[in-house]
Amino acid sequence: MKLIFLLSGEHPKLAKAEAITITNGKYPKAHKNLLILTTNKIKNINRLAYTKKVYKFLFVSTLKNLEKDMAKFNWNSIYEKDFSLRIHNKKNLQEKELAGYIWDKVKKPKVNLTNPKTQIELFIHKKQVFCGLLINKINPEFEKRHPKIRPSMHPTTLKPRLARAMINLSGKNSGKLLDPFCGTGGILIEAGLLNYKITGYDLSHYLLQGCEKNLKHYKIKNYKLKHKDSTTKLEKTNLIVTDLPYGLHSSLFQKNNLKELYSNFLSRAQDSTDNAIIMFPNKVNIKTLIKKTKFKIRQIFKLRVHRSLTRNIVVLEK
Ligand SMILES: C[S@@+](CC[C@H](N)C(=O)[O-])C[C@H]1O[C@@H](n2cnc3c(N)ncnc32)[C@H](O)[C@@H]1O
Repeated sequence: MKLIFLLSGEHPKLAKAEAITITNGKYPKAHKNLLILTTNKIKNINRLAYTKKVYKFLFVSTLKNLEKDMAKFNWNSIYEKDFSLRIHNKKNLQEKELAGYIWDKVKKPKVNLTNPKTQIELFIHKKQVFCGLLINKINPEFEKRHPKIRPSMHPTTLKPRLARAMINLSGKNSGKLLDPFCGTGGILIEAGLLNYKITGYDLSHYLLQGCEKNLKHYKIKNYKLKHKDSTTKLEKTNLIVTDLPYGLHSSLFQKNNLKELYSNFLSRAQDSTDNAIIMFPNKVNIKTLIKKTKFKIRQIFKLRVHRSLTRNIVVLEK
């Protein structure tokens, strides 16, 4: 099936990679915040973090041929109960006029502008027009898990949308997930809600307590938290997803050099899992670090996390 993904507009490269990975999508083509691909794997679409809506691709036309193509399309083949037509980035097009082509074609036409069963949307990109039938509105309610409203807060915790996208980039949709630097659980909360068996380690008792409070708050039951140094032997897991420590603020780490910590951790991680999604600080030479391990870099995404903070998300596999 050919689908259109309306992406959120944030971190476009990451958003595309996330949708392609989750759907195992083929022949992807991107036009600004639209991604078009072919897939039969739509079961997991609801877990996407950076996609707002998903549509069944109906046809592509041009501004010049749009009326002709609207008149030609077999609307009966997709029409159910009632309908609406919306145009994104309208130009001079009139929704009412174009909706007339659907009205004329279907057997019992009925317009419903608030909650239509058949929602047709047109996307204008340059001179092209993509027509889709809405099949999925994604609402993972990230605002309910915003770090500011969690019972326990860590200043560098990841926002839920980004945490979830990191998990999705692995392409592993279930199993055991370990965050070896879990802090207050930004990644573990999302993973728990996606039904992974989650384990978190941290060197700070205080943050582990906060993490537990957060997991309980979101009614996540299947978790294990351990006070542990993640440069020592790690348990076996299907997946590691983590945001590395990047500051030497706490007295806990003063003895450590960060580069050494990353290197020691990676050498443990390679014996624990085949798949890891790791957020690195910007100034680290990632390729040199990874070369010393059994991992291969599948993808790297550079992103601005806060105004003055850039990070790299690295997708590793063996
Ligand atoms: C960037 S923070 C992770 C934040 C976390 N993702 C969250 O949502 O709160 C890194 C964490 O690594 C922990 N840490 C630092 N060195 C560690 C080590 N050697 N072993 C385990 N945890 C460590 C810190 O206490 C801190 O909580």
